[in-house]
Amino acid sequence: MKVISLLGEKGGVGKTTLAINLAITLSNMEYKVALLDADPNRNASKLISLRDSDKPIDAFPASTQPHKDVKKYKKYDFVIIDSPGRVVDVSGKLNEGIAISTVACSHLVIVPTSASPNDILGAGPTIDLIHRVNQDRGKKKPKVNYYFLLSMVQGNTRLARDAREHIRRLYNDKGKKVKIFETETAPRIAYQESLTIGESVTEYQGIFGRAKREINALTEEVLKNAEKIVL
Ligand SMILES: Nc1ncnc2c1ncn2[C@@H]1O[C@H](COP(=O)(O)OP(=O)(O)OP(=O)(O)O)[C@@H](O)[C@H]1O
Ligand SMILES: [Mg+2]
Repeated sequence: MKVISLLGEKGGVGKTTLAINLAITLSNMEYKVALLDADPNRNASKLISLRDSDKPIDAFPASTQPHKDVKKYKKYDFVIIDSPGRVVDVSGKLNEGIAISTVACSHLVIVPTSASPNDILGAGPTIDLIHRVNQDRGKKKPKVNYYFLLSMVQGNTRLARDAREHIRRLYNDKGKKVKIFETETAPRIAYQESLTIGESVTEYQGIFGRAKREINALTEEVLKNAEKIVL
């Protein structure tokens, strides 16, 4: 079982959309996939429930401790975790419990961000949190691998061209280069339309669909990365 999570305190950057698209696309490649919904709003599960019942996807609600939940899904090839944005408790205090627990059980963490400098900066607390979990692991356990993913990026703009450099400038860590997926997603209506029937863009679009190509390319990159995971 390999655990891949979509993480980010910043809301609306595409975590749920990407979690659903990855889960369905991997599942259609004959991998056994569980979508673990760690967001209390349960949007991922609700969207998956809109699917035609002939094409089921195993989606499960998570507790506030996803690292405990994943133990139930050892028979799956992949567990994809959709995590919430910023969570505050009743007193208004930031509650990072779900995020910490999610990172703790992940083999690969994907942090989506738009190309906007504000959003790229907004990923800071999430990257700090991943580093904290990694430090707490000590030397014996492998560090959690994380990648930025540029999401909803308008191609052929100066902002898009500069985004990678901007991420590197902010997040290269002590000489270690921050990793960014080659694949980017553009703002495309297919990402929204497909979810009205709980489908991935890879199911919804025809062979020349651009969103479909993006998710296929992303899935390939994720699989290439997952091959290196030693369980
Ligand atoms: N590539 C895209 N093109 C167009 N719209 C997109 C794209 N990706 C996501 N969206 C839309 O952007 C909005 C936010 O996406 P999504 O819910 O996936 O983000 P999120 O990071 O999960 O948000 P939250 O932190 O609130 O859970 C949704 O309306 C979604 O349909
Ligand atoms: Mg979400």
